[in-house]
Amino acid sequence: MSKVLVIYAHPETAKGSSTHELYKHFINSYTAKNPNDEIIVHNISEYMPFRLDKLAISIYNKNLAKSDLTPDEIRLSESRDKWLDEFIHADKYVFANPMYNLFIPAEMKRYIDMIMQAGKTFHYDDKGLSVGDLHGKKAIHLQSSGGNYHNDLIQNDAMIYDLGDQYLQTMLHMMGVDDYSAVFAEGMDKDPMHTIEILDNAYAKAELAGKEF
Ligand SMILES: Cc1cc2nc3c(=O)[nH]c(=O)nc-3n(C[C@H](O)[C@H](O)[C@H](O)COP(=O)(O)O)c2cc1C
Repeated sequence: MSKVLVIYAHPETAKGSSTHELYKHFINSYTAKNPNDEIIVHNISEYMPFRLDKLAISIYNKNLAKSDLTPDEIRLSESRDKWLDEFIHADKYVFANPMYNLFIPAEMKRYIDMIMQAGKTFHYDDKGLSVGDLHGKKAIHLQSSGGNYHNDLIQNDAMIYDLGDQYLQTMLHMMGVDDYSAVFAEGMDKDPMHTIEILDNAYAKAELAGKEF
């Protein structure tokens, strides 16, 4: 039985969401194939308490200097550790988000800020190089975007503008998670006449990915 951690970043609104549909197609197919797996879902657009503020940076500096934390710093550190432990103990990660300004939503960046912790998810070797500490895990990125970045027949280098997917893949790699795949629902704003076809195609890919994940 695997533990699947879903980091979902989309504010819930009355309007339908292609991110949500993409995720639903993926997870329904995944759970049909793996009915006994544990699925933990966080909508971090609704709740993401961690930010790199004065307190968080003070903890960072004190940990480096190995000096004592204040009671407030201990409290924040302990609540961060709960999120970190959850991440470390999951077997599979699902990141689902719309593209915002060529990147992942800010809350997802804050989630990454929270789990990137030397001594927990990676460490530095004696040459000062970072080494990932998570092993045998896999991740999938499900992303919806108005433009076309991964299947653009006109602009061959479009992929380099999807900074969020590259970032996510790089950060997971830094933590040792190299089994990484992605499904994109993309190009609906660029080619609105074909929205239904584009989405149906993406949802079918998400279903297939759910069976294989
Ligand atoms: C604030 C904001 C920024 C966006 N930035 C981009 C962008 O940089 N590139 C892009 O292709 N689409 C961008 N979009 C469009 C969304 O990524 C696209 O509409 C996506 O399908 C929305 O997913 P949803 O249906 O789940 O809300 C942006 C949308 C919003 C609201």
